[in-house]
Amino acid sequence: MCGIVGYVGHGNAKEIIIDGLKKLEYRGYDSAGIAVVQDGKILLKKHVGGIANLENLIGDDPMTSSTGIGHTRWATHGAPSDINAHPHCNEAGNISVVHNGIIENYAELREMLERDHNVKFKSETDTEVIAHLVGINYEGDLEDAVYKTVGQMRGAYAISVIAASEPGKIVAVRKDAPLVVGLGKDAHFIASDIPALLKYVKEIYFIENNEFVVLTPESAKIYDEDRNEIHREVFHVTWDADAAEKEGYDHFMLKEIYEQPKALYETLTRRLDENGTIKLDGIKMTKEDIEGFTKIYIVACGTAYHAGLVGKYIIEKLAKVPVEIDVASEFRYRDPFIDDKTLFIAISQSGETLDTLAALREAKRKGARVLSVVNVVGSSVARESDDVFYTWAGPEIAVASTKAYTTQLMCMYLIGLHMGYEKGTITRDYYDKFIADLAEIPDLLKMCLGNKGYIEGLSKMLYNKEQVFFIGRGLDSAVSYEGSLKLKEISYINSFAIAAGELKHGTIALMEPGTLVLSLATQDFLYEKMLSNIEEVKARGAHVFSIAKEGNTSIESKSNEVIYIPACRDELTPLLSVVPLQMFAYYVAKERGCNIDKPKNLAKSVTVE
Ligand code: G6P
Repeated sequence: MCGIVGYVGHGNAKEIIIDGLKKLEYRGYDSAGIAVVQDGKILLKKHVGGIANLENLIGDDPMTSSTGIGHTRWATHGAPSDINAHPHCNEAGNISVVHNGIIENYAELREMLERDHNVKFKSETDTEVIAHLVGINYEGDLEDAVYKTVGQMRGAYAISVIAASEPGKIVAVRKDAPLVVGLGKDAHFIASDIPALLKYVKEIYFIENNEFVVLTPESAKIYDEDRNEIHREVFHVTWDADAAEKEGYDHFMLKEIYEQPKALYETLTRRLDENGTIKLDGIKMTKEDIEGFTKIYIVACGTAYHAGLVGKYIIEKLAKVPVEIDVASEFRYRDPFIDDKTLFIAISQSGETLDTLAALREAKRKGARVLSVVNVVGSSVARESDDVFYTWAGPEIAVASTKAYTTQLMCMYLIGLHMGYEKGTITRDYYDKFIADLAEIPDLLKMCLGNKGYIEGLSKMLYNKEQVFFIGRGLDSAVSYEGSLKLKEISYINSFAIAAGELKHGTIALMEPGTLVLSLATQDFLYEKMLSNIEEVKARGAHVFSIAKEGNTSIESKSNEVIYIPACRDELTPLLSVVPLQMFAYYVAKERGCNIDKPKNLAKSVTVE
């Protein structure tokens, strides 16, 4: 959470930074700010709200400097406000800092600064302590001061600092929060994520934990904690700025829903060789390793966790190995039983989610082999895993995840198939047929997108429900959780998912005339059981909107509305049934006038606990 952009060069820092911040608004958007070094002073502008508010505030103010830092915030310490917005300065106003993360000992540091240095704090943020500490430690050399300050701090952070008396210099450091450096001609950039820089550079350095960066227009140097210089390979970004633009869609979310056929095609075909066999490329896991695993944990957060729920069904079924699934924030603190026969699968679109990263480290410490499913190349989860199974979703900007989810599902199928085949729990014939069916999915998903008009109409009718239940059995139950999350994230409707068979143990008490129930009934072998569950809620007056497989028309008489997905094998329906749920959430949120790409209180990349 929070996005950082910094620039040193000969261009207009303000324009470049504002441009970059706009690409990082998915990381937080409750306030934004910029600080530049100009005429031996720090000029600071910050404002509550999105980048547009900051632009209005700056107006025609001549910020002509070519050194600066900027920030878009997702509040942790201190409510969103002008004062709490970053950058923060020391009292003398000659040091300015932007920060992503949490300084865990900030209360202690704040007390020390107030007591020993008589510092008068302006904001309620943890970040302000950094600005004062750098100011106190500053004796004319910004690098020295940042090194000293970092020695006093505990927590997770990416920070970038400028000093009024050192124009043409940014010093940055990271620990458990992302930072990349962009390498331009006579200009260098720093940012929380690559899209902020793509308009200007394609060559970047990934910064590792506990590394310090010193940028000037001429050089970008990386140092370790002991101030030894580090040589870093240049990473060439292969996608371009357009991939992170709306291209005529009203929202990134809609664009990303429509990009799913392509993303799934890429995720599948990049992993298949000419014989239709899954290729491992960089993955070093051998047949012996796979045969040796006695247990798998899948751990993730949010939508990625929901992809893991499907993964559990699929991997257990295909590879015949017990799979446990957990949310990362629970897993990391529950002392799970792990040994060197455990495979730990982390799923994370961003690869930066702090809880997922911490769970991964815990599993590794206990001897597990770590395989991650990640969308962002070079992210922390990817770098700390033994092996990485990349999704090829391309940049996902909308906070509510869509194409990242379906590509994560695709990876679950490929991992299950590969493990099952290596272990001999599935035959080559079964494997080939399954892959052939997966190859049909992009086209079948396109057919699901054809329901747009119907779903839009339905949303106009149902948008004002205050409570919605999602029910399903087996894989449909896993997808219900994702459908429910989508709806609540972007429309703020109180939605709740439950395994349909569990309804009678409590939740059915909430059914009233008109209660909206979205029922998923795509599993052939559970279809009749689902019809009974639908009857149960209908009998209490519920309004039932069902998703079923083409051909299963008997559901029509029991539902108010039905959307059919193309017939396919039961195991693959999650890739299709989620699409009408994504679209329903989207159009309901639109009808309710919500800020779809940037829902309140949420952020795309959650780098705090
Ligand atoms: C946040 C996002 C969700 C996402 C979750 C996990 O809550 O809003 O869309 O599913 O983080 O993110 P990750 O990057 O680890 O998949």
